[in-house]
Amino acid sequence: MAKVLVTGGAGFVGRHCIRRLLARGDEVHCVDPIVPLTGGLPPEKWPFFNPRDYENFHFYQEDCRTWFKRVQDTDFDYAFHLAAMVGGRMMIEHNPLVVADDLSIDAEYWQWAVRVKLHKSLCFSSSAAYPIKFQRREHYVLLKEDMISFEFDIGMPDMSYGWAKLTCEYLARLAYQKHGLKSVCYRPFSGYGEDQDDSYPFPGICKRALASRGEKTLTVWGSGQQLRDFIHIEDCVDEIFATMDKIDDASALNLSTGIYTSFIDFARMAAELCGYQPDVRGMSDKPEGVFARGGDTTKQQALGARYNIDFRDGVRRALEYYERGVK
Ligand SMILES: NC(=O)c1ccc[n+]([C@@H]2O[C@H](COP(=O)([O-])OP(=O)(O)OC[C@H]3O[C@@H](n4cnc5c(N)ncnc54)[C@H](O)[C@@H]3O)[C@@H](O)[C@H]2O)c1
Repeated sequence: MAKVLVTGGAGFVGRHCIRRLLARGDEVHCVDPIVPLTGGLPPEKWPFFNPRDYENFHFYQEDCRTWFKRVQDTDFDYAFHLAAMVGGRMMIEHNPLVVADDLSIDAEYWQWAVRVKLHKSLCFSSSAAYPIKFQRREHYVLLKEDMISFEFDIGMPDMSYGWAKLTCEYLARLAYQKHGLKSVCYRPFSGYGEDQDDSYPFPGICKRALASRGEKTLTVWGSGQQLRDFIHIEDCVDEIFATMDKIDDASALNLSTGIYTSFIDFARMAAELCGYQPDVRGMSDKPEGVFARGGDTTKQQALGARYNIDFRDGVRRALEYYERGVK
């Protein structure tokens, strides 16, 4: 049994990781103030399971920066560091200084980790850390872990969110080099699942497809041609648990499928699964972000990790889930 800290554990990724940790009997300490405009939910509202049913679950509704000042336990085996101001594209584009809070959260996390000589960190960076020059309409490629090199080139990441994630990775690296702290930095691409916050494209498109059933048009944000690499949250969690003990030197690992799907194709697929074939159109007044963001899977495969849930099946699962909720 391991003692595990999960910062930001009441959010989308955290809830799925905690479910897995509790199931394997770990002692879980979740620290999350449940910040408005994030995907955080109070434990009694977590979908799929109630963490309070587990004696080994401890919840602190508190900013992790306050918790780091208060708690100096030196016996944590792992920390899943997920706490962040994320939100969907609207938040990233229109609230860049709120998102910049992540810089302070991460700085205080690493200072705490050094103080308590933390055994192992799992840091949640993002595909937004990759240089946007590889994600343009006129030139895009699957993003490979070594396209960010702190020795040679880091490039321009995506807004303050990408900067903060890049900085967190750099701090992880310094913590390893200067203090011997072990860590791995995950770069999830478009993680999705039925219980994701509505500010993300995945639930947004699925719910619009259901609500517009039978109509002639269906809308998506931006041009609709933008491409993303959707990976089911359960695949993310499987990959995390399969690899968390395989990287210690703060290097990065994508959580991706290597498959691009446009928003238009996604919406068509969702509508088709709902039994109709609308004309799918972009909404030019809504942001679309970078044009193409997909992650190379070579390193994941070399470490024995691979996605299993086909995107169409993931969409079908979510539509069924939302429909059950509506009835
Ligand atoms: N979901 C994805 O596909 C994805 C993709 C790339 C990166 N990530 C990264 O994974 C992590 C989790 O993302 P998510 O999708 O679960 O987001 P989320 O918004 O659902 O969860 C973030 C959680 O962090 C909490 N939080 C914010 N400030 C905090 C603070 N000061 N102290 C403690 N908790 C705080 C929020 O209350 C929320 O519960 C983030 O670091 C995010 O950048 C996720």
